[in-house]
Amino acid sequence: MRHGVLFFITALCLALVAVPGFAQETLKIGHYGSLTGSEATFGQSTSNGLKLAIAEVNAAGGVNGKKIELVEYDTKGEPKEAGSVVTRLCTHDKVVAVIGEVASSLSLAGAPVCQQYSIPMISPSSTNPKVTEQGDMIFRTCFIDPFQGYVCAKFAWENKSMKTAAVLLDQSQAYSVGLAEEFEKAFIKFGGTITIKQQYNKGDQDFTARLTAIRATNPDVIFVPGYYTDVANVAIQARKLGITAPLLGGDGWDSSKLTEIGGKSIEGSFYSNHASPDDPSEIFQSFVSKYKDEYGATPDALGALGYDSGKLLFDAMAKSKSLSGKDLAATLAATKDFKGATGVLTINEKRDAVKSAVILELKDGQPKYVTTVNP
Ligand code: PHE
Repeated sequence: MRHGVLFFITALCLALVAVPGFAQETLKIGHYGSLTGSEATFGQSTSNGLKLAIAEVNAAGGVNGKKIELVEYDTKGEPKEAGSVVTRLCTHDKVVAVIGEVASSLSLAGAPVCQQYSIPMISPSSTNPKVTEQGDMIFRTCFIDPFQGYVCAKFAWENKSMKTAAVLLDQSQAYSVGLAEEFEKAFIKFGGTITIKQQYNKGDQDFTARLTAIRATNPDVIFVPGYYTDVANVAIQARKLGITAPLLGGDGWDSSKLTEIGGKSIEGSFYSNHASPDDPSEIFQSFVSKYKDEYGATPDALGALGYDSGKLLFDAMAKSKSLSGKDLAATLAATKDFKGATGVLTINEKRDAVKSAVILELKDGQPKYVTTVNP
C-alpha cells in the first residue's frame, strides 16, 4: 500500500514536470564571464554581486511569483568562448535575458548572438561604445569610454597639472584601444602633449623595450588603459627601469589582484572607476556589508555593477508586459532614475547608462577615493 502511494506521487511529479509551463517554475537568466584566466576576478566579482541580487529577489518571492534561476558559463577571457557560451544560453538554456560580459571585446562577441535571438543582454561594465551599437537588445549599466577618457585627462591636467603623457595600450582589446584614443583626444584638447604611444598584447611578459622608449620621453604620467594583471607587471618593470612617473588608467585596473601583484610599484598611481569603496551613501554601504557577510571580502566595482545589473533586470522583468525579448527590451530602455548601489541609473537612447565616475589612488595597498567627475 505504502509503495503504491509513493509510486503514485512519483508518477504524478514526473507527469507534472512533463507538462510544458509547469516545469517552468523558475525564470532562467544567463551570465557569461571570465571566471578563470588573467581577468578571473572580473567574472568572479560580477557573479558574486549578481548572486546576491538573485538571493534577494528570490527571498522576496521571486519575479511575479517565480524564482530566478542562474545559468552561468566561464568565458576564460576568450572572445571565441564568449560567442559559444552565449549561443548555448540563447538556444539550449533558453534564458529570458543575459548578463555579461565585463571585457568589451568579449561583450562584442556575445552581443550579436543575443541580438540574433532577440534576447536582451545587459553588460554590467563593458565601456566600449560599440557594445550597445550591436542592436536594440543590448544594454549596459555603466558609462562609456569617451566619458572615461575625458575623466582621466581632466584629472591629469586639472587636478595634477600634468602636461605630458605617454600611452601604453593593449592592442588586443577593443576597450584599451578605444580608451587610449579618447584619453589622447581629451588630453590634447586640454593643452597636453602625448610624448609617445606604445602597444602590447594581453599576456605579454616583457615590457622593457616599450618602457625604455617611454622613459626616454620623460612624461609626467604614463596612461595604461589595460587589465589588472598586465598593468601590475608594467608597474613592476617601470619601477625597475627607474621610471618614477605615476601610472594612470581606467576601470580595467579594478581588482584586488592589482596591488597583490603590483605591490609597492603601483603605489601612488591612479585610475578611474565606477564606484569607490569609500562611498558613504547608505545604498552602497548596505551593499558592501551584505557582500562582506556573504563572501568575506570587500567588493570591487564589478561586484556592485553585477548586483545592480541583476536588480535592474528583475525590476524590468516584473514591470514588463511580457517576458518576450521585445517587451523586456522596451521596459529596460525606459529605465529612469533607477537607484543602484553604484548610483542613480538612467538608460539613454543609445542604451547606455549615464553616470558619474570616480578617481581612485592606490595607497597602502588599497584604492582610496580622490574625486568624482559628473557627466
Ligand atoms: N570597462 C572594461 C571593458 O570594457 C571592463 C571593466 C569594467 C573592468 C569595470 C574592470 C572594471 O573592457
